[in-house]
Amino acid sequence: MKTFLLFILVILSISRIIRCQCTIDIKTELNRTATGTVKEPLFLKYTGSEYRLMLPDSTGHLNFRQGENAMVACTSDQKPNTLTFNNKTSSTIFCLSGDSYNINNMRYKVSDFNECKSLITGNTINLNKKCADQGSMITIGFQLTEGRGFITLIEICYNKKRSSSIYAKHIVQGKIIKNKMITNTRPSLFKKTEVPTKVNPQKSFTKSNQLKRFQQIFGDLETAQEFINKTYLARGHLAPDADFIFASWQSSTYYYINTVPQWQSINNGNWKHIESAIRSKANQLKADLEIYTGGFDVLKLKNKKISMENDGLDVPKWSWKIVKLPFENLGIAFLTLNNPFALSSPNALCQDVCNESGWNWKERKSISKGWTICCRVSDLMRVILDVPEEAWSENILRYNN
Ligand SMILES: *[C@@H]1O[C@H](CO)[C@@H](O)[C@H](O)[C@H]1NC(C)=O
Ligand SMILES: *[C@@H]1O[C@H](CO)[C@@H](O)[C@H](O)[C@H]1NC(C)=O
Ligand SMILES: *[C@@H]1O[C@H](CO)[C@@H](O)[C@H](O)[C@H]1NC(C)=O
Ligand SMILES: *[C@@H]1O[C@H](CO)[C@@H](O)[C@H](O)[C@H]1NC(C)=O
Repeated sequence: MKTFLLFILVILSISRIIRCQCTIDIKTELNRTATGTVKEPLFLKYTGSEYRLMLPDSTGHLNFRQGENAMVACTSDQKPNTLTFNNKTSSTIFCLSGDSYNINNMRYKVSDFNECKSLITGNTINLNKKCADQGSMITIGFQLTEGRGFITLIEICYNKKRSSSIYAKHIVQGKIIKNKMITNTRPSLFKKTEVPTKVNPQKSFTKSNQLKRFQQIFGDLETAQEFINKTYLARGHLAPDADFIFASWQSSTYYYINTVPQWQSINNGNWKHIESAIRSKANQLKADLEIYTGGFDVLKLKNKKISMENDGLDVPKWSWKIVKLPFENLGIAFLTLNNPFALSSPNALCQDVCNESGWNWKERKSISKGWTICCRVSDLMRVILDVPEEAWSENILRYNN
């Protein structure tokens, strides 16, 4: 019996060595401090025509065969960002064995090359391509140095005239989302990139400026305080950080163009529930889900249109999210009322299918947490014309089976 177990163990370890000579556990080997602060580089593979982000396997490991090479790179949108250990923006690593890599004919461990001097927080490209009725496309991703190209993470359709986002598209990678990096790493500020200079979101999102703005809209402080009191307008992520695998990818969601103003009680209420249910569904399917997220219409309170500035930063009346399982013609849409002050339930813009599709949850109809319905995607698209064609699907993606 003992010999048999030993035999199995030997077989298992040999097969592991044959399968992948070098392996990096992204949850435990890319951090430098016990506090969870992480500044890991991008891990890239050259396909022969372009650089692609390497993905961990379903257990959260990056694997390399013996002799296989990959590139580690630090990107930035300001002064060049470099690997801490050699002051270079990128290096090619060759797997030797286990924890051992050859870089420029020297031997290194993962813990040597797992850090950039500063946190990677993404780059943007304005594609100057039209989208929706009033929008233009901007992509968020990574601008590699030395002409190695741009890697897209999030696509944003942005209304420049109103300094407001229309929708974002991104992917939740169901095979690996369960083993994403969990860190305290956050950029200190949301980036204003591509936001017209006529608005100042950094200032407008402070609670004191929200109170001033509401006072300006309603004419008196008392009315303003009815709204900006227990809750306030938060920078509601369109593509949320928690949908991404690496700390660098997560940190690249902190752009104002990837947000819409959303009431905090809703952002932290039913909206959070929807985001997390989608990750669970992706994990359940072990498949990539396409996610489209946006705002619709402009919120009115006491008959006044609400924007955070005269020149834009419109507060949407609705938040919507579409989940699509590509190639299967399956999808589901969520529609959340962005008005915690409503005195009664609104008219549904599309037929509620939460119950029969298995996506129902307890506080779904709570107005303070964000009154929500689920709809067929095709049904939602009849009402919200800014949803891109590619989001379309005919049949319902159920939560269970
Ligand atoms: C990285 O994280 C793992 C798991 O949380 C921990 O055991 C390890 O000590 C950390 N590494 C460093 C260098 O702090
Ligand atoms: C990298 O730069 C730092 C500070 O500029 C310097 O102290 C260090 O010696 C450099 N390391 C290498 C390998 O060049
Ligand atoms: C603000 O909130 C406090 C605490 O919940 C409440 O007592 C007060 O009446 C509210 N103010 C307004 C103007 O609604
Ligand atoms: C959906 O289910 C909830 C409880 O599970 C129930 O209260 C509600 O009436 C149902 N709604 C519809 C439209 O069937």
